[in-house]
Amino acid sequence: MKRRGPLRLDPGSYMRQPRFSAGLAFGRLTLAFTTVSDRLTQIFAKRVYPLFTRRFADQVRLINLGYEEDPPMGLSLPQSDEPGRFMIQLYHRTAAQVDLTGKRVLEVSCGHGGGASHVVRTLGPASYTGLDLNRAGIDFCRAAYDLPGLSFVHGDAQSLPFSDDSFDAVLNVEASHGYPDFPGFLAEVARVLRPGGHFLYTDLRPLPWIAQWEAAFADVPMRVLSERCIDEEVSRGLIGTAQRLHDLVAGRGPRYVLDVIRYGMVVYGKATLGPRRSSYRMYCLAKDEGSVG
Ligand SMILES: C[S@@+](CC[C@H](N)C(=O)[O-])C[C@H]1O[C@@H](n2cnc3c(N)ncnc32)[C@H](O)[C@@H]1O
Repeated sequence: MKRRGPLRLDPGSYMRQPRFSAGLAFGRLTLAFTTVSDRLTQIFAKRVYPLFTRRFADQVRLINLGYEEDPPMGLSLPQSDEPGRFMIQLYHRTAAQVDLTGKRVLEVSCGHGGGASHVVRTLGPASYTGLDLNRAGIDFCRAAYDLPGLSFVHGDAQSLPFSDDSFDAVLNVEASHGYPDFPGFLAEVARVLRPGGHFLYTDLRPLPWIAQWEAAFADVPMRVLSERCIDEEVSRGLIGTAQRLHDLVAGRGPRYVLDVIRYGMVVYGKATLGPRRSSYRMYCLAKDEGSVG
C-alpha cells in the first residue's frame, strides 16, 4: 500500500476542508447520529462500534477526543502508550479526582480497555471491572489485557448487572451522550455505589440539552462535589489525538481511514466543541452517606 505523506494538524486545519470526502461524510453522519436522535445513537452504538472494534481495536485502544492542558500535563507514559497520550490524559484527569488506591472500581463503557489498563497500572485500585455494550470490544479486552484485578463484563449502562452498594467508585468517560436513558443510567450508578462512593464522570452535550443534563443530577442521591468545563483542554487534545491516530494508521490503513481521522474527527470536534454549540464537562459526585442501594 502506498504510504501517505505526513499530516501536520494545527487549529487552522479546522478551517481548510475539502467540499466532500469520506471522512467529512463520516464526521457529519456521526454528528447527526449523536445529536439528533436517541434511536440513531443506539444504532450507532450497536452496529458501528463492533465494526470499528473488529477492524481497529488492536491499533486504537481508546475512543475519545482527548485532553491536554496548558502547560502540557506531561504524564509519564510507557512508549507503547504514547499513541493514546491525549485520550489517556482524559482518563487520568477524570479518574484521579479521588484516590483510587485499594478501591473497587467499575468503569461503564470501557470501549477497547486502553483507559482501564492505564488506571489499573497507575492508580492502584484493588479491582477494576470494565463494562461495555459492545460484545466484540469486551472479547477484545479479555484477550488483550492480563493485569491483576482487571476484568471485563458485557452489559448495558442502563441496567448494570451488579448488586447494590458493590463499588467504591464508578468511572464513565465520553460515553453517556449515547445512552437513550441518561437518568436511568445515573440511577444505576447510584444503586451500585456504596454510600460515600464516587462517580467520576466526563462527557459533552449540545447546548440545548444542558438544562436537561443538569436536571438529571438533581434526581439521584448523589452530590456534585466538583464540576469543570474542559472545552479548551478537549479542543487541544483533539488535535493531538487526530495527529497521533493518523501517524499510527499511516502506511497501514486504507485511505478512507486516514480521511476519517483527519476530517471526521476534526469536523465532529469542531462542530461539537465550537463556541456556543456544546459543553464538555468533568464531574466528581459522591453518593449520599445515608443512602441505600
Ligand atoms: C466514545 S466510546 C468511549 C469508550 C471509552 N470510554 C474510551 O474513552 O475509550 C463510547 C462507548 O460507549 C459504549 N456504549 C454505548 N452505549 C452503551 C450502553 N448503553 N451501555 C454500555 N456501553 C455503551 C460504546 O460501545 C463505546 O465503547
